[in-house]
Amino acid sequence: MDSVRQKSMEYWDNWYSKKNTDNIVTDGWLDIFRPIIDECCSVILDIGCGRGNDTKYFLEKGKQIIACDQSPNAIEHIKNTFPEIYDARCFNFLDGFDFDDASFDIICADLCLHYFTLADTGFILGELNRILKSGGHIFVRVNSVKDVLHGAGQGPELERHLYQMEDGTIKRFFDIDDIKDIFSGFDILLCEEQNMDRYSKPKIVYTLHLSKK
Ligand SMILES: C[S@@+](CC[C@H](N)C(=O)[O-])C[C@H]1O[C@@H](n2cnc3c(N)ncnc32)[C@H](O)[C@@H]1O
Repeated sequence: MDSVRQKSMEYWDNWYSKKNTDNIVTDGWLDIFRPIIDECCSVILDIGCGRGNDTKYFLEKGKQIIACDQSPNAIEHIKNTFPEIYDARCFNFLDGFDFDDASFDIICADLCLHYFTLADTGFILGELNRILKSGGHIFVRVNSVKDVLHGAGQGPELERHLYQMEDGTIKRFFDIDDIKDIFSGFDILLCEEQNMDRYSKPKIVYTLHLSKK
């Protein structure tokens, strides 16, 4: 799977080399978590931050943020666009998260946990569990199996609901059983299938609120 890791890195770094920072959009999905966000006084971790759609949301609410991504171009954009940011780090989730145990009250994982085999997803979720404080929260969005416009059911199926895309990357699409299985290490406080309209084509996702068991 090393070549998949390489393809993902190339795909995203290339993506962020083309896109400018003008169209950073906060689409309001985090609004339902406002009471928790408003109460949080510690640094929030935004993983797979990309150009910073969610980082922007948190900063606008006066929060301190560490944003991280595998793409050097994404991290450079983040540093240029949000010079006030607490920290921005470039690393691959598959190398582990270089943070102490119980570091964060809130972790945001928006559209970045559906690119992995089951084994790798388990590793990443184990790391998130480790760095989350007791009583902490993870806000997640992942692809739904109904998201056909974005590739659900297309390409060779490598594992249940995990597809090889034409560009060599892999993408997982979740149904409710996948959500319950894959996130079973957490309490699932909310699981809602929703339409999102941040992209040119509508997208169907699951929004999750996880907390440490
Ligand atoms: C669809 S984008 C989401 C960006 C942002 N969270 C948002 O919603 O606007 C997925 C992001 O996950 C990052 N990502 C994917 N696999 C990763 C990995 N193995 N390690 C670190 N980041 C990764 C990509 O580089 C990309 O920025």
